[in-house]
Amino acid sequence: MSELKEILKFYREIGASFLEHHREDPLTALKEVSSEIHKCTKCPLHQKKKNYVPGEGSPEPDIMFIGEGPGETEDNFGRPFVGNAGQLLDKIIEKMGYSRETVFIGNIVKCRPPGNRDPEPGEVAACKPYLEKQVAILKPRVIVCLGRVALNNLLGQELSITNERGKLFYFNDIPVIPTYHPAYILRQKTKEAASKAKWDTWNDMLKVLEIAGKS
Ligand code: URA
Repeated sequence: MSELKEILKFYREIGASFLEHHREDPLTALKEVSSEIHKCTKCPLHQKKKNYVPGEGSPEPDIMFIGEGPGETEDNFGRPFVGNAGQLLDKIIEKMGYSRETVFIGNIVKCRPPGNRDPEPGEVAACKPYLEKQVAILKPRVIVCLGRVALNNLLGQELSITNERGKLFYFNDIPVIPTYHPAYILRQKTKEAASKAKWDTWNDMLKVLEIAGKS
């Protein structure tokens, strides 16, 4: 054992850094994925989009939020969740004690589906490797799926968001908590329905905070 220590000490002294485990820093790795996305032509969505929307936030977040795909405002700005739903998401994130900069916000598909339709299976399949790479780099403590489309396309299942919200799932060994999409809260027609949707969402976020170690 002491011989091994001596050998390692010798290698360290001569600067043999190849002996150390090398991991590219997450910011650089994230930027590489983003530039891959900016060149992507793997599905037809790139033809009609104005901007790619790779996602943004901390390269080492506790929490990663995943929506379904960019809407019109996001397509205009090249940034995720910057329209009305995004403003509500910002409020939720702040109430959780975080900010846009300290979490990561992304989407299942990185280009806007025309007319905000659901992304098609081929589009999701083409885009999923980018999301998988982002998740592997970010290593969030917990993923929040915003709405049915995000949940089902992340997990490859057919689940009801109303039944499954707040329950614990896993994606590549990372805990996943689904909740309502903020646009769903905004769509509620009565005050009562809106406050129920908000209350349910907040209860889901309490579970997220517990998994993130912040409760
Ligand atoms: N809805 C989403 O699912 N994603 C966005 O980026 C904006 C709205």
